Amino acid sequence: MDPAKFVEDSIKELRETIDGKAIIAISGGVDSSVAAAITSQAIGDRLTGVFVDTGYMRKNEAEEVREIFSEYDLDFRIVDASDDFYESLSGVTDPERKRKIIGAKFIDVFREVAAEVGAEYLIQGTIAPDWIESGGELRDTIKSHHNVGGLPKKLGMKLVEPLRDLYKDEVRELARYLKLNVAERQPFPGPGLAIRVIGEASPERVAIVREANYIAEQEIERAVEEGKMSMPWQYFAVLLPVKTVGVHGDLRAYGETIVVRAVESMDAMSATYSRIPHEVLDRISRRITNELGDRVNRVVYDITNKPPGTIEWE
Ligand code: XMP
Repeated sequence: MDPAKFVEDSIKELRETIDGKAIIAISGGVDSSVAAAITSQAIGDRLTGVFVDTGYMRKNEAEEVREIFSEYDLDFRIVDASDDFYESLSGVTDPERKRKIIGAKFIDVFREVAAEVGAEYLIQGTIAPDWIESGGELRDTIKSHHNVGGLPKKLGMKLVEPLRDLYKDEVRELARYLKLNVAERQPFPGPGLAIRVIGEASPERVAIVREANYIAEQEIERAVEEGKMSMPWQYFAVLLPVKTVGVHGDLRAYGETIVVRAVESMDAMSATYSRIPHEVLDRISRRITNELGDRVNRVVYDITNKPPGTIEWE
């Protein structure tokens, strides 16, 4: 694939296809970002890009996405629906219920924005592995993936998928060509940090995992820059519903447990845990227990492959 030619042809085709307003959900991931960037070049501010802040995003995520799209000519909106999401998930502990509630809420927000702007077209960053049988469907039987697959019918919009014949490496190549700062971003699940808080994903518990995740990401990226290790395929933190006894100063503490998870994978179907140097694990553990010292007093590293584990804990 020649990126310049692909972009040029896509713009032409999108201009011929889309004669009204279009909408796209932007997650900050590489697929939706590339689809949004190309479509905005084709139809400008007839495209509305919606980033739904569910309250379960990583630290600085909404602002980073805004920054990426600040140079593009599209109607970019961040919808802060966090209170709504927190309320819907209050008291919910079952992983599948969490995923379903988040998926449904996401559609509600999206539906509101689509009606508000009068969008007739829905742009999706679907790529080949998403619709080729094996990949998506096998995964879907294990966990209900949050995506907007069910949207077009429910919203009565026409679906346009500019990347549907491409593979991930080609989409990454396009992102680099378009100078989109998302090309090497690690995958992040649609339900976000809600599935990285085991048990109820209350705002207080999400705040803990958000900070721990930020520290784990920072230390791993620093170690990669220093040449101490190679970049894992995915790396993050999980908060367990398990308290353990520790010491804080001279006093007995009873605090939360954080799991650090890092994996190597090709396509997320199988994965092996990353052999992170102990020195790096040590830095992560010290920082988490120092910076979150009033709440977290234990950090463990997940050494499970997929299968039998999955990459995420829920
Ligand atoms: P699992 O945990 O099933 O995850 O081994 C495989 C890959 O998929 C990501 N993941 C999701 N991505 N919506 C997504 O867009 C989801 O609901 C979802 N659940 C898991 C996960 O982060 C990993 O990269």
